[in-house]
Amino acid sequence: MTPLLQATALRKLYPVKQGWSRAQLHAVDDVDLTLAPGECLGLVGESGCGKSTLARLIARLIAPSDGGIRFDGQEIAETDLRTFARSPERAQIQVVFQDPHESLNPGFTAMRIVSDHIRSLIPGLTPIQVTARAEAAFEDVGLPLSLARRYPHQLSGGQKARVGIARAIAVEPKLLILDEPTSALDVSVQAVILKLLGVLRAKRGISYIFVSHDLEVIRLICDRVAVMYLGKIVECAPTAQLFAHPAHPYTRALIAGSPDPARRGLKTERLQGSATSPINPDPNRCRFAGRCPLTAPECTAQMPQLRAVGPDQSAACHFAQSAPAKTES
Ligand SMILES: Nc1ncnc2c1ncn2[C@@H]1O[C@H](COP(=O)(O)OP(=O)(O)OP(=O)(O)O)[C@@H](O)[C@H]1O
Ligand SMILES: [Mg+2]
Repeated sequence: MTPLLQATALRKLYPVKQGWSRAQLHAVDDVDLTLAPGECLGLVGESGCGKSTLARLIARLIAPSDGGIRFDGQEIAETDLRTFARSPERAQIQVVFQDPHESLNPGFTAMRIVSDHIRSLIPGLTPIQVTARAEAAFEDVGLPLSLARRYPHQLSGGQKARVGIARAIAVEPKLLILDEPTSALDVSVQAVILKLLGVLRAKRGISYIFVSHDLEVIRLICDRVAVMYLGKIVECAPTAQLFAHPAHPYTRALIAGSPDPARRGLKTERLQGSATSPINPDPNRCRFAGRCPLTAPECTAQMPQLRAVGPDQSAACHFAQSAPAKTES
C-alpha cells in the first residue's frame, strides 16, 4: 500500500551557543518514518527527545534542516512554510496541541474558533457551508451547540479539548497529529477523549500520529509505535510486538519503568550514567551509550542504524534482537 506519509532522513538542527563558540542542537536527526492511510502511529520517548519537533516538521510548522517529506504522493518539505500555509495540503495535516487552553483564542467563541479555521483553510465555502461543517465537527466530538457559543474560559478542560479536536477535524484532514492531547486533562477525562479519538478515527478514516509520554495510552490506541531517543528513532514495531518483545535496550527500559501491566515479565533495566548531550553529539557513537546496560566497544565506535530485527520490527542497536534479550544479565 502506498504510504500516506513518508519522511526521509528528516533533520532539525538548532544553532546554539556553547561557551564562546557556536554549536548545533540535534533535535531531530536523520529520521525515516512511514505512515499508512488510516494507521495510528505512536511516538514515544522521554522529555526533550524530539517528539514535538518531529511532529512540527511533519505538520510543516517548522522547516527541516534537511530531508524529505512525501505526503499523499507529493513532496512537501521543499515548499516554503508560508506557501504551504496557504496550500490545500495545509488542511490535510492538522495538529491538536497539548494544552487546549493555550491553543484556543480566548476572545472567540468555540463556534468562531472552528468556523474561522474552516474559512481560512478552505476558501470559497459559503457561510452556510462553513456553519454546516462546524456543526458536524461539534456533533462528532460530542459538544452540544449550546456550548459552542461559549468562550474558552467558560468551558471545562475536557470541553476545550473537544473544541481543539473539532477545529482540527472540521477541515477534513487525512492526517491528525496529536501532540500529548490528553496530558493536561484529568485521568477520567483523558479516558473519554481517548475513546472519542478512537471513534473519530474509525468514522472519518483519519491517520493519526499520536505523541505521548504515556506508554499505556500508546498501547491502547496505536497500531504501531516509534520510540525516540535524543533525536533518533531507535525502534519501530507494531504495538503488540513492541510490548511483547522490545528489541532495543531503551525500549525495554521504558516499558520496564512504566507502571502498566505490559511490563510484567520484563526484567527491570535501570538506566544508569548520564544522557548524551544533544549539542554536537558524536556521529560515530550510539546516543544511548553511557546509559545502556549493553555498552560494548562498537557502541562508541559506530552509530547503530535502524535495521530489521523481525517482521515489521526495526531497531537501532548493534545487539538488537526481537526476543527478550539475554546478553545483559
Ligand atoms: N526553537 C528551539 N531552539 C533551540 N532548541 C530547541 C528549540 N525547540 C526545541 N529545542 C530543543 O530540541 C530538543 C527536542 O525538543 P522537543 O520539544 O521536540 O522535545 P519533546 O520530545 O517534545 O519533549 P517533551 O516530551 O518535553 O514535550 C530539546 O533539546 C529542546 O530543548
Ligand atoms: Mg513535546
